[in-house]
Amino acid sequence: MRVKIGTSADFPADTLVTVSGENINLVAARVSGKIYAAYGLCPHLNLSLGRGKLEGSTLTCPWHGSQFDLTTGKNLDWVRGIGGARLPEWSRGLVALGKEPMPLTTYPVSEEAGEVFVEL
Ligand code: FES
Repeated sequence: MRVKIGTSADFPADTLVTVSGENINLVAARVSGKIYAAYGLCPHLNLSLGRGKLEGSTLTCPWHGSQFDLTTGKNLDWVRGIGGARLPEWSRGLVALGKEPMPLTTYPVSEEAGEVFVEL
């Protein structure tokens, strides 16, 4: 299903944007000129990625610091801390609550004549 999620101006460079509405919950950003989108809840505990930190293509979850490549969805690091504070390596398994590393679910994005669409 193809859904319009905004205009090109809604996605400035290197800025994480939350897209929500009826049956849609995404985070998206323009990275190196291209817009990428992923499901808006972290695969760790299904908490919102909307206040995540974007550095290049790396998106860091604001809750427990898992990191993902927004352009591919790949998990780069899993459960690094709590609320921005780093935890010792040995305690990561406790905070992970038994969840194994998982990627983000990503969706193809296209820009046409100044409008932005995602394929869900
Ligand atoms: S909810 Fe994202 S790392 Fe825990």
